[in-house]
Amino acid sequence: MKLSVVGSGYVGTTVAGCFVDLGHDVVNVDIDEEIVAAINDSKAPIHEDGLPELLKKHTGPNSTNRLRATTDYAEILETDVTFLCLPTPQNDDGSIDLSIMEAGAEQLGETLADKPDWHTVVVKSTVVPGSTEDVITPILEEASDKSAGGEFGVGMNPEFLREGTAVHDFLNPDKVVLGADDDHALADMYEVFDPLIKRVDAPVIETNTRTAEMIKYANNSFLASKVSLINDIGNICKELGVDAYEVADAMGLDDRIGEQFLRSGLGWGGSCFGKDTAAIRAAARQQDYEPLMLDAATEINEQQPGRLLSLMDGHVDVQGKRVAVLGLAFKPGTDDVRNSRAIHIIEGLEQRGAEVVGYDPIAAENMREHFPDIQYVESPTAALDGASAALIVTDWEEVIALDEEFDAMATPVVVDGRRAISRRDGIVYEGLTW
Ligand code: UGA
Repeated sequence: MKLSVVGSGYVGTTVAGCFVDLGHDVVNVDIDEEIVAAINDSKAPIHEDGLPELLKKHTGPNSTNRLRATTDYAEILETDVTFLCLPTPQNDDGSIDLSIMEAGAEQLGETLADKPDWHTVVVKSTVVPGSTEDVITPILEEASDKSAGGEFGVGMNPEFLREGTAVHDFLNPDKVVLGADDDHALADMYEVFDPLIKRVDAPVIETNTRTAEMIKYANNSFLASKVSLINDIGNICKELGVDAYEVADAMGLDDRIGEQFLRSGLGWGGSCFGKDTAAIRAAARQQDYEPLMLDAATEINEQQPGRLLSLMDGHVDVQGKRVAVLGLAFKPGTDDVRNSRAIHIIEGLEQRGAEVVGYDPIAAENMREHFPDIQYVESPTAALDGASAALIVTDWEEVIALDEEFDAMATPVVVDGRRAISRRDGIVYEGLTW
């Protein structure tokens, strides 16, 4: 099949590469000329395991040439199905800002006005229930002067890709959700995903666009709440002198609970959990429903960095002292610092007048945009040298491996937000929930 993917962010670039791997021909459309040039030069614009290999295989010289990037929307006319993978940021009140999606839908609609035959448009971005049916479809209809269900089809196919393992997650899905408001669109989506469904025998959920949209929010809300619940339990454990990880190991053996997402500590960051829980809470409030559980999950998440800093305060006054922040990315395996817990930690340290030294194997440059004035070093050893406290924020392997490097600290206070290292002689160790 010939596919177009609008947007070359974390989702767009990954799915474009993976669709080619499934045997389709793909054109990736983005307004950013630099990103388009990078993709055509088989360079991944984002850090994602397996993506450089996919790009090398399918774009540029000596490749299959089945993936190409362009800034020209007209190239969509040569394709059968378009996936909209544009960003959906937040308004100040947490609600979803659909303006980029709306602009993309308008441009796509104007393009489709010139298409003589059927085309299917699939929304892949995370959008609140009703966005596809009530906002995007009418824009496509007006801009193309065509009718949805009659001359073109609309579907919604949420993604469940984790940053860092997105290629693996795409090719090994737990489920494929196909939301469509007309049969032709559904049939086209099946044709796109058939090679994947057959390859891994993935369960398919066939539904309407509104339900497909909600499934994504429900998924992320559940996972975010699960982490916040274990953090709530973990905070209680810490206060009562119990190790939350021993408790979680036992809990996870219960099939009804499951072992995943029970790692308590600094909580969730990244571009998804915070944004998605905020958007669905705002959507609920617009309907006069108070989402108490999701409100609490957010509040618990926000308090974890403060609790880590208080544990540090209990051992050392860091004013004018060097403090090592180990890990800046929102989780290991990515250079993404959006909503990283490290941001709150660094802010708290600056308020205390500390001299902050940050280390991350790949995310330092991105953090520099938030905090240009703190010091960034190339190794955890360099960060620890002469430090009065070390705060463990991201459980990178390089951080987990630390041991005698702590001996170089001025006062060896180590406060661990991820249970990355074990208590050992010679350091004052505090775990956030253990
Ligand atoms: C999340 C979902 O897992 C994906 O299924 C979804 O597609 C994606 O959001 C999205 O909406 O695009 P992601 O944000 O990449 O993926 O990261 P996760 O691996 O889910 O981790 C989220 C945060 O939770 C991280 O900060 C991580 O450190 C934290 N976490 C996770 C914990 O604190 N404890 C855990 O046990 C697990």
